Amino acid sequence: MRSPLRLGILGSGKGSNFRAIADAITAGALHAEVRVVVSDVADAGILAAARERGLRAEYLAPGRFRTKLDPEAEERLVALLRDAGVEWVALAGYMRMVKAPLLDAFPRRIINIHPSLLPKFPGVEAWKQALAAGAAETGCTVHYVDSGMDTGEIIAQSAVPVLPGDSPETLHARIQQAEHALYPSVLRILASVE
Ligand code: GRF
Repeated sequence: MRSPLRLGILGSGKGSNFRAIADAITAGALHAEVRVVVSDVADAGILAAARERGLRAEYLAPGRFRTKLDPEAEERLVALLRDAGVEWVALAGYMRMVKAPLLDAFPRRIINIHPSLLPKFPGVEAWKQALAAGAAETGCTVHYVDSGMDTGEIIAQSAVPVLPGDSPETLHARIQQAEHALYPSVLRILASVE
């Protein structure tokens, strides 16, 4: 039996993707363990959700920038992840760019979920971009993280229709449902080949 995939999860928001991953682990559908959940937002739902599950949850003070961590903060993050024994880093609603300290510490071991069918609609609020563009379908993508904005190699995608009368909220909710199935299924594949 292989050892479980040792995950570190980074998020800035409510943490529904983290919960989907944690629930898949609890259900025995994903051979992994969440070693630590880290957020750059002290009161993020993702930290509360991790604590509710008895998992290690850490707030990381991000420093002076809005779109990335201070280099010192990112070094602290690397040390924290290493200390927790993390081998794969899963971004789940993490709203900052990943820079060299983290990229170099986990080469090809950082993945992200994005709410569009990349390369379409990178960046923020991708579901609003899909609506504005009049797209007939959109979806979500799990991809490796590189130094660009949602540019890393694509691992898997799941499509959802854009329905007549969709609001940003209804469309995002449909995409999130797809995310909650896709992210654990990608991790399941990674866990099986590791
Ligand atoms: C998701 O839509 C994900 O695609 C994007 O940020 C959102 C995070 O949602 N990167 P949650 O915090 O997992 O609920």
